[in-house]
Amino acid sequence: MTAIGERLFGALLGAAELCTVEIGRQLGLYAALRDGPLTAAELAKAANIDERYAREWLEQQAAAGFALASGAAGFALAPGAAEVLLDEGGPEYAGAAGQFAVGVALLTPRVIEAFRTGEGIPYSAYADVRHGIAGFNRPMFDHLLTGTWLPAVPEIETRLRAGASVLDLGCGMGYSSVALALAYPGITVRGADLDEHSVAVAREVAAAAGVADRVSFTLADAAAVTGDYDLITIFEALHDMGDPVGVLRNARALLTPGGSVFIADERVADEFTAPAGEVERLQYAFSVLHCLPATRAENPVIANGTVLRAPTLLRWAREAGFAAPEVLGIDNDFWRFYRLR
Ligand SMILES: C[S@@+](CC[C@H](N)C(=O)[O-])C[C@H]1O[C@@H](n2cnc3c(N)ncnc32)[C@H](O)[C@@H]1O
Repeated sequence: MTAIGERLFGALLGAAELCTVEIGRQLGLYAALRDGPLTAAELAKAANIDERYAREWLEQQAAAGFALASGAAGFALAPGAAEVLLDEGGPEYAGAAGQFAVGVALLTPRVIEAFRTGEGIPYSAYADVRHGIAGFNRPMFDHLLTGTWLPAVPEIETRLRAGASVLDLGCGMGYSSVALALAYPGITVRGADLDEHSVAVAREVAAAAGVADRVSFTLADAAAVTGDYDLITIFEALHDMGDPVGVLRNARALLTPGGSVFIADERVADEFTAPAGEVERLQYAFSVLHCLPATRAENPVIANGTVLRAPTLLRWAREAGFAAPEVLGIDNDFWRFYRLR
């Protein structure tokens, strides 16, 4: 097999296994296995599924290394699998990867059609992808946002501790807004997003976390939100916005004196390089399958796609009137961080 053939074989293996992960997630099969080994008959009963399918899935999961065959007792989760596949609030959770992959695959026929017509595909059409994004980003918000990222910018952190008014643009399902409110009891947070379903989920997330009195969500274009805010955050969303310079210009107008905009967007190279590293390859694939079509539905002309490079973001910030946009020295495998003021 040639090197490229081997690459495709590995990718096919990964894609197929991700689909089986999504079967396990949706049907609650991993959850059923959490407390110890189960035979196929026991799993079928516990998850209310067909026994023959249960056996095939268990054997396949063990073959893939996600489960262990435990003789007559059946199959158990492999060591470390529960943290990755089940613990949604935990730092190791990556169980949304299957949902993400299935989500983009489901839309691929529409993307093929979009390539022909040049049309966009609304963000709302990417039903599973929205949840995949939220599931993937949540561990970073729960474990890094207020523990590592914001403390790296003492001026922002001090302001939050004193009780600030925060606007979270492109808040998606609200996990960033809620994490901020939980860490800084004196702040109020307003999340804004264009996607109705995400805003509805975000309200539920805030209520479940007990912070709905300080965290509100608005269905709105980030370029048109109003109010006065000490801190404005944009997490992995600026590249998705139809008018990013308009959004930044609006954000600048909404800042109180001394306030700043804190942005996280993709950690990609400063200029196009091929072949690219793994993170950039992933971002490009999502750009083709999701971000570019979704942003073109909002604005067919400006649409940037997922790959938002630091020089582009800094240029947008200057065009929006920020005199000193800066790249922050916060380390992360996926995201690069910026402060605008
Ligand atoms: C990749 S998601 C990130 C969501 C969330 N910040 C997170 O990290 O989980 C991008 C979000 O930007 C939102 N978005 C796109 N264009 C927008 C606009 N013009 N105004 C507000 N939100 C927008 C989308 O609806 C989506 O929820």
